[in-house]
Amino acid sequence: LENGLERTPVMGWNSWNRYACGIDEDLIHRQADAMVSTGMRDAGYRYVNLDDCWQTSRDATGTIVADPVRFPSGMRALGDYLHARGLKFGIYSDRGTQTCAGRPGSQGHEAQDARTYASWGVDLLKYDNCNATLDQKSQYETMRDALAASGRQIVFSVCAWAFKPWGPRTGNQARSTGDIVDDYTRNAATGGMPVDEIIDSNNDHAMYAHPGFFNDPDMLQVGNYGTGSVGGHGMTDTEYQTHFSMWALMAAPLIAGNDLTTMSATTRAILTNPEVIAVDQDPLGVQGRRIRDLGEQEVWSKKVQGSGVRVVALWNRAGAAASIHVDWRDVGLGSGSATVRDLVARADRGSFSDGYTTTVPAHGVALLRVAGSETPDVIRIVKTDTRTVT
Ligand code: DGJ
Repeated sequence: LENGLERTPVMGWNSWNRYACGIDEDLIHRQADAMVSTGMRDAGYRYVNLDDCWQTSRDATGTIVADPVRFPSGMRALGDYLHARGLKFGIYSDRGTQTCAGRPGSQGHEAQDARTYASWGVDLLKYDNCNATLDQKSQYETMRDALAASGRQIVFSVCAWAFKPWGPRTGNQARSTGDIVDDYTRNAATGGMPVDEIIDSNNDHAMYAHPGFFNDPDMLQVGNYGTGSVGGHGMTDTEYQTHFSMWALMAAPLIAGNDLTTMSATTRAILTNPEVIAVDQDPLGVQGRRIRDLGEQEVWSKKVQGSGVRVVALWNRAGAAASIHVDWRDVGLGSGSATVRDLVARADRGSFSDGYTTTVPAHGVALLRVAGSETPDVIRIVKTDTRTVT
């Protein structure tokens, strides 16, 4: 959406993955304070986003009312609290008559709600897709236009999973997958989507990403270790690192979903690694994609700013360590020498001709910055489809 916003993917924190409806003013204050004290804010995480359940009713004029017990100071005061700390204020509603958790939705109140949010100092609206019977596209467009007319710059986060081609013209980001759970791979006891399936699904929409619009493969589970509110058994630190590295490679919004007040040094190191964040925030806004599928070993590549520079992810989906090779020509570089830096270890690996091979742990990703020589684009699509189109 060309409203001047989200030139690089949004970074912040959202209440849902950890707390679901268990939110109140005190909790949001503590998370916001932790954003500052842990260094998350200065690493780039600015948005503090309330998800579902902050609202209870509408008053006689139809104005949306925040839960007076859980948010006694009101939303204007909460916005002021966040802005005073150099943070931004995100809020949540739904295109239907009710939100997914049964709170009042915005259907028929779009312009009024947009004006209310603007008066509270809201900087981002996540707009959900439950309890709706009217046309999805036009309802999202109605809220897009209402935000544009609200008098305030508000990032529009479209929460209509099952990607729609109108998404990039309607939102600054749009969900491309189902709800994430805190699992690396599918677990029969959990309903939503694990990290590996989300990566596969989000890859299908890579061509839509650009400054102003990014695919949203849902919020981060890094550091929840199975304590969240949306299901899942937790992941290992290697798997959380894979989750984070691949979100950065795919230019996804980086919205932390863990308890920032108690996070471990390991969780903090994953979330604040400046070299991985720089991959996500690269100004070209390209979504990296899978370029080689070697069974359980995959090579992914993202073009970033600078001639002859790529970020390469070597993803080992197997349950045991494996060696993975990237050929420079497969990522659009000349076969001569290129330097390799490991962005997670934050260490230079040296200079290599032709390509690079490394051992990647089970469920791990080697995230590499490769600087070599640019070659003209070569189309490497091999077409084997023999269907007759009539
Ligand atoms: C569905 C969304 O996908 C979640 O992220 C969360 O916003 C819930 N709805 C809230 O009800």
